[in-house]
Amino acid sequence: MPERSPLPSPEEKPVFVRNMFADAARRYDLMNRVMTLGQDQRWRRMVVEACQLPPGGRLLDVATGTADIALEALRQHPDAWVIGTDFTHEMMRIGQAKDPDGRISFVEADALRLPFPDDSFDAACSGFLMRNVTDVAAAFAEQRRVVKPGGRVLCLEITRPAAPIWRDIFHIYFFKFVPRISAFFSSNKDAYTYLPHSTLQFPRPPQLAEIMRSVGLKRVTWRTMMLGAMALHVGEV
Ligand SMILES: C[S@@+](CC[C@H](N)C(=O)[O-])C[C@H]1O[C@@H](n2cnc3c(N)ncnc32)[C@H](O)[C@@H]1O
Repeated sequence: MPERSPLPSPEEKPVFVRNMFADAARRYDLMNRVMTLGQDQRWRRMVVEACQLPPGGRLLDVATGTADIALEALRQHPDAWVIGTDFTHEMMRIGQAKDPDGRISFVEADALRLPFPDDSFDAACSGFLMRNVTDVAAAFAEQRRVVKPGGRVLCLEITRPAAPIWRDIFHIYFFKFVPRISAFFSSNKDAYTYLPHSTLQFPRPPQLAEIMRSVGLKRVTWRTMMLGAMALHVGEV
């Protein structure tokens, strides 16, 4: 019998991903801090800085999850109008509890069909979304559509280091340690293998930049963090 892939098929993926995050929602923030060795909030700060929001600007945080990027945006720009979308209700419920004054508008939506008119935002960003969608180009195209000309589309995502030594260390970390950490926090066995395997098939930074250009984003740049294991891409509309 052929060996079953540890990754869901494109048809199964949305339901698989939603179930995985619904299951992990309550432990997600803690799991993030542990897996990134406490670095994740620093990267979210960098995402918001790179949005270059104007005074009173409008930001769309796609796949907001527990809303850490949206909250950071309001910390840096108290006068901003911030919308967070996600298709996992359980994740956003945790985010809502972290925003008791209701300053963030939460909207349940698929990243591939954003329920906003064209040119609605000054910037759209996503943190750790793109590995999870079935069509990365379509997700970027949606974000480009809802951002005004001159605005920015940003993507923070795990990537694979280019340098062989760091690539090996990354591989050991993601394939040996991450499944153990996931097992500690989650009862969903598929989730242990999904994270490392989904990083292997995800485009490397130059290819991801090419996908962004292919949907019309301009002046695409990226920077890597954590010895090349994390990348922040920025494109202009
Ligand atoms: C790893 S979490 C990231 C959450 C948050 N952006 C952060 O920085 O922690 C990924 C999120 O993407 C959401 N997601 C995945 N695919 C999606 C899709 N097609 N549409 C909307 N949300 C999606 C999941 O529900 C989950 O909340």
